Amino acid sequence: MTMEITQTQKSRLSSVDFNNLEFGRMFSDHMIDISFKDGSWQEPRIKPYAPISFHPSMHALHYGQAVFEGMKAYYVDDNTINLFRLEDHHERISNSSKRMCIPTMEKEMFIETLEKLMQLDHQWVPKKPGHALYIRPFVFASEEYIAARAAKEYRYIVITSPVGAYYKEGFNPVSLTTTDDYVRAVKGGTGEAKAAGNYGGSFLPAQQAQKEGYTQVLWLDAKENKYVEEVGTMNIHFKIDGKLITPKLGGTVLPGITRRSVIAQAKAWGVEVEERRISIDEVFEAHENGSLEEIFGSGTAAVISPVGLIHHLGKTIELDREKIGPFAKKMYDTITGIQYGKLDDPFGWVHPVTVG
Ligand code: COI
Repeated sequence: MTMEITQTQKSRLSSVDFNNLEFGRMFSDHMIDISFKDGSWQEPRIKPYAPISFHPSMHALHYGQAVFEGMKAYYVDDNTINLFRLEDHHERISNSSKRMCIPTMEKEMFIETLEKLMQLDHQWVPKKPGHALYIRPFVFASEEYIAARAAKEYRYIVITSPVGAYYKEGFNPVSLTTTDDYVRAVKGGTGEAKAAGNYGGSFLPAQQAQKEGYTQVLWLDAKENKYVEEVGTMNIHFKIDGKLITPKLGGTVLPGITRRSVIAQAKAWGVEVEERRISIDEVFEAHENGSLEEIFGSGTAAVISPVGLIHHLGKTIELDREKIGPFAKKMYDTITGIQYGKLDDPFGWVHPVTVG
């Protein structure tokens, strides 16, 4: 596959304080930019990170026809960085795209352009434990046209950002609240796609939760406001009576790639795993009868995030808020150990890229 590559004349790397990284604030020197027109994806371009220009009539601005992914590159050594579950991310952006009527891209183009970007910007991958280069691929309708139908032109862009922890709490317990004022996703909607608008719609409820002192909203199902779904910024898992219970997918929950990894790893340890509907009442009952052991979230940005508190209709579950549960800790150590190439990769999740 041919690619047009233009390297930056002036790297911004020396302006980065790798000891104080704010999630998603700084961007590396280069970006991938591929246009879709006349029915196909054009030759990929890799070029210096820079503003892009568009018309006020650009379709995505009006109708939100846009999807994205979140991945990470992990520093292994000066010659190797690891990408994680690349093929799964390609599959998910393809599924999100199909739901949003966006053309999909061949796996080879997705992977080879990412490898090239990593080779150019590998020095942007933080070396500090717990840190990584966050990779944000996104696709949006770029056609200059405001009729309400699927666009005919798109841009696929990938930018990357050196990051530490996603939540201000770091790898410490976060607090969640349910809401009965808003819903995130309904069956048949776009909840299982990584569609831009799903996130835009969650900001108001998240702001209200934060005003009340919680980190994020714990979303319940839209129909009965009863079954736990996800957090919006991560999936959720409960350790109850020795079992790992994770809300099942089914149209309204994002099929998290870290979620899938947690489930596979737990099964490999011989832990009983249940992917099923779990009501918020069941979680509170388990807390009351002493069988609720741990709660944690999983996601590319969130990694494994312990949950220390859940608020629901005036009642609160409070786990030891200073403590990270042993299961979440072991899961964090194992998944990040595989990602950073410090542990064996029995599942074949890691995609090493030779750099330098
Ligand atoms: C990710 O985990 O990569 C996401 O896209 C979540 C986002 C809220 C940062």
